[in-house]
Amino acid sequence: MQSNLSSKLNARLHVGIIMDGNGRWATRRGLSRLRGHEAGVEAIRRVVEAAPDQGVGTLTLYAFSSDNWRRPPAEVSGLMALLRSYLDKEIDSLARNGVRLTVIGRRDRLPGGLAQAIGDAETTTAAGDALHLRIAIDYSARDAILNAAVKAAGTADLTREKLAQLITGEAGLRDVDLVIRTSGEKRLSDFLLWESAYAELHFTDRMWPEFCADDLAEALSSFHRRERRFGGLRAIASADVPSL
Ligand code: IPE
Ligand code: IPE
Ligand code: MG
Repeated sequence: MQSNLSSKLNARLHVGIIMDGNGRWATRRGLSRLRGHEAGVEAIRRVVEAAPDQGVGTLTLYAFSSDNWRRPPAEVSGLMALLRSYLDKEIDSLARNGVRLTVIGRRDRLPGGLAQAIGDAETTTAAGDALHLRIAIDYSARDAILNAAVKAAGTADLTREKLAQLITGEAGLRDVDLVIRTSGEKRLSDFLLWESAYAELHFTDRMWPEFCADDLAEALSSFHRRERRFGGLRAIASADVPSL
């Protein structure tokens, strides 16, 4: 049974964004890659502010993949510090604006201060009902599915809904309606593989540090022009998809 809070959010769209291109944006300007990531944080602020007015109830942002540990240590620690300072600076304003923040992904490999800040942010914003902002940090969709399978092993009456809850970490999370990837790359890079089974995909050449409210609006307008059939023959709204 969904709470009123999550059913209100679930009535609106779930958008996932693969925020890509920070490094190339910076390098082309003769800046360090870290400056690109800093500019990327500004884009996060813009999009989080714009999303509720554009019909988005849940926004999942891919901030750091489990494969991003392969990057040079200085870039990794710079990214961890940026995420920490985003939480420290934004949390009050997120709470004021009714944004509920949760983080998906592993926490045991994060620097201690960041893991603590995530827990605090989740507690402080738990009552938000204007937008559910999910940030993916040390996230791998395949690991999320694997871990769920390990937990579910031996469950006799395993259903899609139960497995989905184990994969996503919460009951009744709306499937992703639209995945946006910036920077011209056209791949999923281990992002929300289960949740995006019927997601529409929108690829844009815009680099993430330049992404703004109008780009989100353009992606959503292209989404609304598509015909979603979910395997059937007629267009149907995702809210009306029969559960099989
Ligand atoms: C996305 O930008 C941010 C993270 C993956 C952390 P990139 O850092 O991947 O930027 P490019 O792809 O090198 O331009
Ligand atoms: C995906 O971007 C991860 C994030 C945006 C956090 P990457 O830049 O790491 O992906 P690949 O390596 O180009 O596939
Ligand atoms: Mg990249």
